[in-house]
Amino acid sequence: MKKIIIAAVAKNGVIGRSNGEMPWHSKQEFSHFKKTTFGSPIIMGRKTFESLGSPLKDRLNIILTKDKELKNRFEDIIVFDKLTEAYSFCENKNYEKIFLIGGGSLFPVFMKDADEMIISIMDFNAEGDIYFPQIDDNIWKINSKDKRSEFEIIYYVRNNEQ
Ligand SMILES: NC(=O)c1ccc[n+]([C@@H]2O[C@H](COP(=O)([O-])OP(=O)(O)OC[C@H]3O[C@@H](n4cnc5c(N)ncnc54)[C@H](OP(=O)(O)O)[C@@H]3O)[C@@H](O)[C@H]2O)c1
Repeated sequence: MKKIIIAAVAKNGVIGRSNGEMPWHSKQEFSHFKKTTFGSPIIMGRKTFESLGSPLKDRLNIILTKDKELKNRFEDIIVFDKLTEAYSFCENKNYEKIFLIGGGSLFPVFMKDADEMIISIMDFNAEGDIYFPQIDDNIWKINSKDKRSEFEIIYYVRNNEQ
């Protein structure tokens, strides 16, 4: 089962704001996100789920939280308090790939486990206080790039995989 990080990162590294507001709205980038993750589980932290507002359709929404009540407040979500349990759940369901979608507190953890990363680098700087972690060239290498009008998608693979 392939674990794939997907994120949108401003030129200055910002991905979000701790008050939950989105630093930008790019329909084109969100459409790329939805198309890429369609049909696959997405794993996210509780605050990212709150910033989305509701589960995303057509994919399994897995939320990480210690709040045992969260699952009672929303239909169509699965909740775990341990990331390893979320992985095992997906393994047992035989998913070929799962997407690790954030947020800031989880990306450094996800980066240890991920096989690939799909990072949209937006064409602008953004105001915010949540950042994507540094990408280590010794661990990750660029496999391909795809330029769109508001952002460039960079596809990373682990260095040792090629
Ligand atoms: N640009 C992008 O691509 C992108 C993507 C995703 C998110 N974001 C932005 O990032 C921000 C959210 O990031 P954030 O760092 O504030 O929060 P977050 O990582 O989304 O969520 C943090 C919460 O997740 C739970 N959690 C984290 N690690 C866990 C673990 N190992 N086991 C169990 N639960 C765990 C905890 O929930 P409890 O406190 O409930 O226990 C924790 O408070 C928002 O602004 C969002 O818009 C941006």
